[in-house]
Amino acid sequence: MANTVVIGAQWGDEAKGKIVDYLAGEADVVVRYNGGNNAGHTVMVGSETYKFHLIPSAILYPDVTPIMADGMVIDPKVCLSELDGLVKRGVVIDNLRISRNAHVIMPYHPLQDRLEEEQKGGKAIGTTARGIGPAYADKASRIGIRMGELVDPKRFKARLTEIMKFKNALIEKVYGAEPMSESAIYEEYSEYAQKLRPFVTDTNFIVAEALAQGKKLMFEGAQGTLLDIDYGTYPFVTSSHTGAGGACIGTGAGPRAIERIIGVGKSYTTRVGAGVFPTELLDETGCYIRERGHEYGTTTGRPRRCGWLDTVAIRFSAMVNGMTGLSLTLLDVLGGLDTLKICKAYKCDGVETTNLPGDWDSITECVPVYDELPGWQEDISGVRKFEDLPANAQAYVRHVESLVGIPVEYISVGPERTQTIVR
Ligand code: GDP
Ligand code: IMO
Ligand code: MG
Repeated sequence: MANTVVIGAQWGDEAKGKIVDYLAGEADVVVRYNGGNNAGHTVMVGSETYKFHLIPSAILYPDVTPIMADGMVIDPKVCLSELDGLVKRGVVIDNLRISRNAHVIMPYHPLQDRLEEEQKGGKAIGTTARGIGPAYADKASRIGIRMGELVDPKRFKARLTEIMKFKNALIEKVYGAEPMSESAIYEEYSEYAQKLRPFVTDTNFIVAEALAQGKKLMFEGAQGTLLDIDYGTYPFVTSSHTGAGGACIGTGAGPRAIERIIGVGKSYTTRVGAGVFPTELLDETGCYIRERGHEYGTTTGRPRRCGWLDTVAIRFSAMVNGMTGLSLTLLDVLGGLDTLKICKAYKCDGVETTNLPGDWDSITECVPVYDELPGWQEDISGVRKFEDLPANAQAYVRHVESLVGIPVEYISVGPERTQTIVR
């Protein structure tokens, strides 16, 4: 296996968890490098379903070392509850390593997230309310607490006292909300720290050593490229580097270590939260896709907005991530529709473009330009070979390939691990 990064090519929930799980059997080390418990990665093995928010999906393989790297923001309470759930299901968690540099989501972060969203009113981002943005903001402002500090009682106390002054001033004076008790936070989080201490270490060296020994690495991206803080549809984005480049920030691996970049894209498009979505379907086809694809958030349970596949967006993702291959997922969901549409360009203020506009605010109208393809009626969830797919499904995949310009290496026809076609 080449050292591989798996990333979302759209607005998240592309079935990265399923693809990481499918590929991780061949890896020695699997690193999650961004985001926090805003993510929800679903893995289905046989009749067992696992929903990962913080823990790398590859923890299900006992021989893999799962790493939570520097770029993550970690809510200790959620982390412990996820680990507890896994232990109860017989999953071995001893190999897990958490970077001492990863930032901690403290209880004031979800509060700030909620207060900021309320303040924005109609312009709210529709965040997951997990405190992700405020935690990354504190990291950039250099007032964050890192995992290495959390697990060191003296440093934690000193750091918390320093920070609570800012936080309570903000909570009270800007938002008019109730201040938080520093001692209560210290007590609660010291307990979490004690339980997490055995996992916290310098993960950069683990990764670098694995590379030096020729071990196989895999990097699990969370969210999607169009939610990236730089590449995404700002300000309706998350606060981390979701793309392939993120795998080289704070993981211990430099860019030359990456040999393969798999973009995961749904066979249609979904988005949770606010922001542009040119191919969104607000009609019965959108509802058909939502119900057939069970398109309700893994983390928040919110109904996902659904629409046709947008290859302008995916082509952009392929470009900025240097994608070597695509994994097209949930193809089975499109079965039963007479006609399928694929967006190949946008018409923005009357001008046709195949490039994703960077400045959406300056555009008054941007409508998708579609190719129409015939659908298929067969249930394809049992198909395991590309040649056995209905001719129209094969043609759909080939059309995506020709529009995006990179090969579709994997096709997913169901949530279970084995419901996967390798090209
Ligand atoms: P992630 O965040 O990218 O890992 O994706 P999510 O887990 O949030 O959402 C993907 C959903 O689709 C999950 O419920 C998966 O179990 C499900 N899923 C994955 N692949 C397929 C597929 O090929 N077909 C169908 N019908 N469902 C799938
Ligand atoms: P996975 O890894 C889909 C979206 C939120 C919101 C925006 C900002 O499962 O694909 P945040 O809480 O991060 O500040 O919210 O980003 N969002 C996701 N959408 N999948 C995700 O993760 C997401 N993580 C964040 O809905 O629009
Ligand atoms: Mg998800």
